[in-house]
Amino acid sequence: MNVPLADLKAQYLSIKPEIDAAIQNVIENTQFILGKAVSDFEQEFAKAHQTKHCIAVGSGTDALHAALWAIGIGKGDAVVTTPFTFIATVEAISLTGAQPLFVDIEPKTYTMDPNKLEDLLKTPQGKSVKAILPIHLYGQPVAMDLIQQITQKYGVKIIEDAAQSHIAKYDGKYVGNFGEAACFSFYPGKNLGAYGEAGGIITNNDELAVKLRRLRDHGQSEKYKHQFWGHNYRMDGIQGAVLGVKLRYLNLWTSKRREIAAKYKQQFDGISDLVVPFESPKAFHVYHQFVLRTKKRAAFQQYLTEKGIATALHYPIPIHFQEAYLHLDYKPGDFPVSEACAEECISIPVHPEMTDEQIEYVISNVRSFY
Ligand SMILES: Cc1ncc(COP(=O)(O)O)c(C=O)c1O
Repeated sequence: MNVPLADLKAQYLSIKPEIDAAIQNVIENTQFILGKAVSDFEQEFAKAHQTKHCIAVGSGTDALHAALWAIGIGKGDAVVTTPFTFIATVEAISLTGAQPLFVDIEPKTYTMDPNKLEDLLKTPQGKSVKAILPIHLYGQPVAMDLIQQITQKYGVKIIEDAAQSHIAKYDGKYVGNFGEAACFSFYPGKNLGAYGEAGGIITNNDELAVKLRRLRDHGQSEKYKHQFWGHNYRMDGIQGAVLGVKLRYLNLWTSKRREIAAKYKQQFDGISDLVVPFESPKAFHVYHQFVLRTKKRAAFQQYLTEKGIATALHYPIPIHFQEAYLHLDYKPGDFPVSEACAEECISIPVHPEMTDEQIEYVISNVRSFY
């Protein structure tokens, strides 16, 4: 049996008539860039997170860059994030001209460690920190109550990287309600994925929303009137149409992910050497990935591959070890939890299209390896 990490074909077939009609509609209307399909999606996506605004953009990377730019981050500033992420989080900081600074993750949630954040903000280097970029990694929301207490104390802004955490919640509040803005990726394999590149920013700040709408369209306030210079971060009409259809299924698909995760956890809990994902009582984890931690990762991965079960490593090299970021001058040992996770974490299939047979097959093979 083969079990892929995602099954976008099966997902498409399950909603084909609606998707085809929505795409056809964009083609008929020739609203290929922004347009009604995108603005309708923006309204629904903001509503889904109980936020006031959504600004649809071209990718998650665009969303992060635009959000940092819009809150005034630039040369001479520093922005704190964690090195255990996809590089786009850190690139967005670099693109503004600001300096990325790292703090380590918590060993349980793999997200920003609030104590490490405070330790950094207390130092002289911490004085240049204008914003932080906590990452709701794998669908697990960051402990935002603790993070907010610290950012309020030090006068630092928050932009949430929610690329992997559509409709995740912490303390009963949706992601996107803890800082200035939250940034999403709608890369095809995400919990809510487009049929190409797409991203979005949500915010409750009216002024910021206006600024972001202009920034995404070359700083235009009206046609050919440029209040400031921006960029082209616009979303395609077809992506808005696809996302609008798929958003209607997001609650259902998220429940399916959570059900599979609960089954896995029940079956794997207690296997020594296998750390299952932690979900704090305050968190509503949306399981973009189901990530196990094991000291036998290479053998475990090979075993599952031989059985036809796809796996992935998110992420095998922490950003401070990437050639692109060696100039930050961090050393091995600076972020021990991130470094250990990069060696021990492995993602196994968790997606709403999994059949009961596939779920049972993954469970029995993981158990038989151990
Ligand atoms: C944590 C995180 N941030 C940012 C991004 C960038 O999103 P995109 O690929 O849509 O530009 C990703 C994409 O995988 C991500 O996982």
